[in-house]
Amino acid sequence: MRLDRFLCETTDLTRSLAKKALHREEVRVDGGIIKNPATQVDAHCRVTWNGHSLALVGLRYVLLHKPEGVECSARRGLYPLVRELIDLPHVERLQTVGRLDVDTTGLVLLTDDGQWSHRVTSPKRRWGKVYEVTLAEPLEGAALDDAVTRFAEGLLLDGEEKPTRPAELAMRSPHVAKLTLHEGKYHQVKRMFAAIGHHVVALHRESIGPLFLGELAPGEWRELTEDEMAMF
Ligand code: URA
Repeated sequence: MRLDRFLCETTDLTRSLAKKALHREEVRVDGGIIKNPATQVDAHCRVTWNGHSLALVGLRYVLLHKPEGVECSARRGLYPLVRELIDLPHVERLQTVGRLDVDTTGLVLLTDDGQWSHRVTSPKRRWGKVYEVTLAEPLEGAALDDAVTRFAEGLLLDGEEKPTRPAELAMRSPHVAKLTLHEGKYHQVKRMFAAIGHHVVALHRESIGPLFLGELAPGEWRELTEDEMAMF
């Protein structure tokens, strides 16, 4: 890539500030001062700016335990953003892979790799997302049998043209359900339970495909391993 672009990617410099830094002879490539912004460099070049080594950041894959009261969006509104919990360079480039509501807790993935994100979320790949759902009222007996069938067959939610994809419902206790979805419509879990007359009081995502929260406490995060990333 061009040297001025490399400087933008690896520092907070804008393209015009990068050009000025080059003009002021602050940048060296493999030991020599370079002033031409169009000079081609790659990850093997040793680039320094004012003596500091610069390295290209590769694509990043982050697994976060989202706490309550934090927002998955890209722009700051009422709540802090999930990105603000993550201490990585150029964190603003990370996008969440799907979203959780502000009051939902649990597993969130973030990446700057758009193709990978698509592979994780595409309904065609059928990766299961497992939620623990706490209900205001107990769900049992014939109502439970009916809910299991309706979720398995697919429900038409308000404002949607297609029914939900088959989902698996099981109860851990009369108030606590385990729901596995293979897609991610807006407020899907809450809307599915509302469609069968139940109100969700707490929602927690436990896993996406083969990825689980493990030992991560709310607010903690880690980068995925190469093997985990390659599973999608
Ligand atoms: N479904 C919801 O209703 N909310 C979430 O945060 C995730 C899935």
